[in-house]
Amino acid sequence: MATAKGIERSSVIISVFSTTPGIGKTIVAINLAAGLASEGYKVCLADLDLQFGDVLNYLKLTSKTTVAGAQRALLDHPKTFDVRKFLIDYSNNGITFSILPAPLYVFDAYQTDINIVKEIINDLNFCDYIIIDLNSMFSALNLAMLDISTVINYVGVIDFLPALKNYKIGYDTLIRFDYEESKIRLVENRADSQKLINSNDVERLLGEPFYHRLPNDYPSVKKSINTGQPLMFAAPDSKLTKSFGELVGLYSNRPHSQGEAVTDIPTEKNSGGLLSKISNFFGF
Ligand SMILES: Nc1ncnc2c1ncn2[C@@H]1O[C@H](COP(=O)(O)OP(=O)(O)O)[C@@H](O)[C@H]1O
Ligand SMILES: [Mg+2]
Repeated sequence: MATAKGIERSSVIISVFSTTPGIGKTIVAINLAAGLASEGYKVCLADLDLQFGDVLNYLKLTSKTTVAGAQRALLDHPKTFDVRKFLIDYSNNGITFSILPAPLYVFDAYQTDINIVKEIINDLNFCDYIIIDLNSMFSALNLAMLDISTVINYVGVIDFLPALKNYKIGYDTLIRFDYEESKIRLVENRADSQKLINSNDVERLLGEPFYHRLPNDYPSVKKSINTGQPLMFAAPDSKLTKSFGELVGLYSNRPHSQGEAVTDIPTEKNSGGLLSKISNFFGF
């Protein structure tokens, strides 16, 4: 696919979304980025949790360039804009992926122009995979990002009734917003933690099986955050690292992986945009 700037490449966009904060979106986004990079793909992780993005913190990185700066540059100098100037690299043991950092200041989030952010993400088209770390709201920005995504990695920790209620409402909302069921990948995080709810009951209620289950593994996550490294480096032999390896296999075209590869999925079913989604949702 040719982009506006004539680059011949079509990225797979995986957005990581949930209806609840603190359930592992950023952990999932970072480890998907690292895992796909380790398979030889060119990967960019865009931190679009614009007020409270954690990607830099989790990787112990600092950056002067952010998506806010990219937005200003694109508005001011559209002809010479080069998104690569706003990326920083995470490298470890020969594995590298790029990061588009979230703004450093909370107020920058209020200046967001959704169409400009879309253009910035589109300019990352030189990558094989773009991973988008979102926050937990059905905001206009998030919906715009879900629209352009190949896959929505919908994460939940479903350990008690209110969590199940929110996960189900979020899933139903995605369906009512007209996203194809095959585009939405249900990923249960901390799946084997002590829970008051059985995963099979959750699947029955959702009417859809989980695409993948990530185990609860606090010691490994803690090591990863404390050392500022993705799990494959911080805790290479852990059950969570292994499980992320399986998820990466599902999302890549790794030949021995089970299930449907992401790239087999049509990128967009509907192009009705935000307004038509909202009117469909509310039935007008
Ligand atoms: N699989 C897991 N096992 C154990 N703890 C986890 C796991 N996933 C996430 N966590 C914990 O949840 C916290 C929040 O994760 P984070 O990715 O920042 O959530 P979000 O991005 O959804 O707000 C992490 O700091 C970690 O303590
Ligand atoms: Mg987060």
